[in-house]
Amino acid sequence: MPRSPLIARTVPALRRAIDNLRKKKATIALVPTMGALHDGHVSLVRLAKRRASRVVVSIFINPTQFAPTEDFGAYPRTWKADIAKLAAEDVDIVWHPGVEAMYPDGFATRIVPEGPAVAGLEDRFRPHFFGGVATVVGKLFTQCRPDVAIFGEKDFQQLRVVTRMARDLDLGVKIIGSRTVRERDGLAMSSRNVYLSPEERRIAPTLYRAMRECAARIRAGDAVAPAMAGGVGMIEAAGIALDYFEVRHAETLAPITSRQDGPLRILVAARLGTTRLIDNVAV
Ligand code: PAF
Repeated sequence: MPRSPLIARTVPALRRAIDNLRKKKATIALVPTMGALHDGHVSLVRLAKRRASRVVVSIFINPTQFAPTEDFGAYPRTWKADIAKLAAEDVDIVWHPGVEAMYPDGFATRIVPEGPAVAGLEDRFRPHFFGGVATVVGKLFTQCRPDVAIFGEKDFQQLRVVTRMARDLDLGVKIIGSRTVRERDGLAMSSRNVYLSPEERRIAPTLYRAMRECAARIRAGDAVAPAMAGGVGMIEAAGIALDYFEVRHAETLAPITSRQDGPLRILVAARLGTTRLIDNVAV
């Protein structure tokens, strides 16, 4: 019978639970999430368990990373199923603050990240996003005081932003990226996949296929620009509206022009109907 995790809903309750773990000399891994947990999240939890003796999962749908036009209200909320999944993985603590615990009246401090946060990828289409993410993740780190924190590679720019922030602010937490978990046809798992209609779901894996094909061409020695143009053609031919399809330096996210410019990452964001999907692969 899986043991239900301790659920903390206020900062003092969380502090007590973390202090108890620390008294027992535990090491702590944090897995920040917004709930609607799928197998991708489960893989983050499993990696967390390998990297620390105790695991804290936060579930908080962070309003400050959504623009007023985005899906904050509609974002899937699956609390009971989430807790059952975390219990099955033997998670120790679920940190589930309300908005008033995270952003109490008078809250007036924000972290404004630069560097990878202004690389001209997600930030071009969601200018509010990384300020909201950095502020909430900064708070999650000071609240949970983890030794390590696990973030999915699917949100690659987010992973870079958080890694930079943890270094720049000496937060004392090691950021670990975890490989993207995919459906059998290659679509990256995402809480937002539930929004896709059957027809959109059918064509969505084109994004992964196009990235893989470009990565293979670049590895095989093709010039970057024509390889990427081929990928754009594949995606647009499937009827998918691209926000961006770019190859960048995998560490800094700076634009590159040739394979020699460093370790490379192909990143994509696209809209299928009202659903926006992002994904990336290494070259
Ligand atoms: O990747 C997410 O789910 C969110 O951006 C995060 C890191 C939990 C911050 O709200």
